[in-house]
Amino acid sequence: MTTEPVPGAAPAAATADASGDVLRAEHITKRFGAVTALHDVNLHLGQGEVLGLLGDNGAGKSTLIKIMCGFQPPTSGRIILEGQEITLKSVDQARSLGIDTVYQDLALINELTVYHNMFLNRERTRWSLLSNRSMRRTAQEQLDRIGVNIPSVDAEVAKLSGGQRQAIAVARAVTSSAKVLLLDEPLAAMGAKEGAMILELIKDLKAQGQVSIIMIMHNYGQALEICDRINLLQHGEITFDKLAKDTSVQELNDIVIEEYRRALAEQQRQKSA
Ligand SMILES: Nc1ncnc2c1ncn2[C@@H]1O[C@H](COP(=O)(O)OP(=O)(O)O)[C@@H](O)[C@H]1O
Ligand SMILES: [Mg+2]
Repeated sequence: MTTEPVPGAAPAAATADASGDVLRAEHITKRFGAVTALHDVNLHLGQGEVLGLLGDNGAGKSTLIKIMCGFQPPTSGRIILEGQEITLKSVDQARSLGIDTVYQDLALINELTVYHNMFLNRERTRWSLLSNRSMRRTAQEQLDRIGVNIPSVDAEVAKLSGGQRQAIAVARAVTSSAKVLLLDEPLAAMGAKEGAMILELIKDLKAQGQVSIIMIMHNYGQALEICDRINLLQHGEITFDKLAKDTSVQELNDIVIEEYRRALAEQQRQKSA
């Protein structure tokens, strides 16, 4: 149990390296047995930048996030945080270095209340007692500020909807003092209203310029609205890297349609072979 960092604490901006990057993944390859999920991936994240990571199902997006947050090691390649190579051994270690993550497959504890989940692994203590009153109050304030609507911070997480759970996981991450946030499809389980709130929240964070964000998304329109830059991952390789202002929904659609055409052609070729 730790007392630091507490949610709502002012985040310290990360130090960028000489090229302005906070986080770099260099030559990352990941194999699961015969499956190569990632092949020589190079990705970089600038200080204060919001990077959208797009790509088809199975492209390797979640695998890349899980490597950068310490959940699993790469088969080969390096992770550089603030100019220093790091070897991540666990998600907790990554968090202590300032990398906080919201997984696609959520990491909330169903049996605990909303506010205990908000403070998971960073519980507030006071003379070594859990300071429930303080955590409840802060959790409520943060959710109010963000606009997340839940019946009560005392509610058990198991009783909430998928979208509400997702909103709490995102709220927990964005109110941490992380330097880097990795969000794997944060809008996936959400309704339009909750999704819009999260987008607003990320815009606010961006305006403050303290935190750098990688966000996996599916909606190109939303991605172009919120992100500074877009990377496209196809079959384990980054095939596209452009500033959001230099691309369009049309261009992204065309690339993906081309990918479908090629997959179809390949299928037909195999059938007739
Ligand atoms: N733990 C694992 N064991 C075996 N294969 C995996 C594992 N995790 C992911 N994969 C495979 O790696 C590829 C990329 O998966 P993933 O990163 O989840 O894609 P995305 O998030 O882009 O949909 C898929 O072929 C998937 O089946
Ligand atoms: Mg995924």
